[in-house]
Amino acid sequence: MNDLWLQWLGAPGTTPPPLDGFLSHHRAERRVAEVLGRWCATAALAVTVERGTDAAPGGTALLDQLRDTDPRLIEAVSRGKTGARVRDRLRASDDWSQRCAGHGVPSGWGPLLARRAERWGVERTRAWLAAQDQRPPLWLRAKEGAAAELRADGFEVVDERGALRVEGRRPLERTAAYREGRAEIRDLSSQLLGALAEPGPAQVAWDVCAGRGGKTVQMATALRGRGSVHATDTDERKLAELKIRVRRAGLADHVRIRGWDGQSVPAFGPEAKRGFDVILVDAPCSASGTWRRNPDARLRHDPAQAPGCAELQRHLLALAATALRPGGKLVYGTCSWLVEEDEDVAEALPGFVAEHHLFGPPSEDADTMYASVLRPA
Ligand SMILES: C[S@@+](CC[C@H](N)C(=O)[O-])C[C@H]1O[C@@H](n2cnc3c(N)ncnc32)[C@H](O)[C@@H]1O
Repeated sequence: MNDLWLQWLGAPGTTPPPLDGFLSHHRAERRVAEVLGRWCATAALAVTVERGTDAAPGGTALLDQLRDTDPRLIEAVSRGKTGARVRDRLRASDDWSQRCAGHGVPSGWGPLLARRAERWGVERTRAWLAAQDQRPPLWLRAKEGAAAELRADGFEVVDERGALRVEGRRPLERTAAYREGRAEIRDLSSQLLGALAEPGPAQVAWDVCAGRGGKTVQMATALRGRGSVHATDTDERKLAELKIRVRRAGLADHVRIRGWDGQSVPAFGPEAKRGFDVILVDAPCSASGTWRRNPDARLRHDPAQAPGCAELQRHLLALAATALRPGGKLVYGTCSWLVEEDEDVAEALPGFVAEHHLFGPPSEDADTMYASVLRPA
């Protein structure tokens, strides 16, 4: 039976039948189904490793089906002795699809990760992949004095490049620092991206995809009481939250909020008549950079569809570029690690040169965020 299965899984040109059908065909009880599922997964992993992904289409396809059906099966397999051996061999493979499988990431992401490795190099990409199994800590953006206040409240607080990493047993929401707006939850990478888009005092900035305003608040704070940030988004509900956030931070006088259709540059009025000093396009994207906090996303999203926002990203960036004053700073950002949504988009903007930044593992114990600062060529 084992040999037959292994032959079938590894035979080139074969695809396994849908797993649900296989299990119901055997009229399996749930427990039996689980045991069978584990066994199939182990067999599939073994074949994939022994014969290479290309030579084992059945094994790879079955693995992906198993992940879709119940990701816990893969986890259970990985904990077993055979599973651990197979997992280690997958991780050591030269093939990105297999490396993905060894870290519980569907092998379909492999070709996209291979493109990332062309930019990052193999070692950094491998370290990044390994970190996807671990949840990052809680990061805060806080006003001066908030760190001491949180320590007094029993939190362990570490300051890293101006961001606070906090750990504590008490819910943060109950602290006065959080409730009164002196500290807010913001991932470290998001803060580092925002820092690239901070305007100088008295400057005028546009936060094109402002959403709930995480970066708007950071940009408006950098104005130091002079100048303004214009915040736009296509989602009015997010802008309503942004309004509250801006008020809580005491920045309402320096932030102009408005909905827009994302199609053409709105009429901003006299403040921006010479163009903006700084523009941030924090574009809609696959959100693949947030897998560490949303581990199910790698299973739910289809890698083939993942770079689907690239056209919209190019459109938003090209539109924003027309509103920049000569010599101004244009920043493009995503919470994605896909080259197709990051470097490819930034480098396609005519007349600009992109300086690329990627925040996240292994350098930052945080989400993965891409940013480029674009300057006239
Ligand atoms: C990555 S989120 C922005 C996050 C935000 N900057 C922050 O720091 O909280 C991308 C935003 O783009 C907005 N968006 C979606 N489609 C858009 C479009 N066609 N034009 C402009 N913005 C769009 C979404 O509503 C979303 O708020």
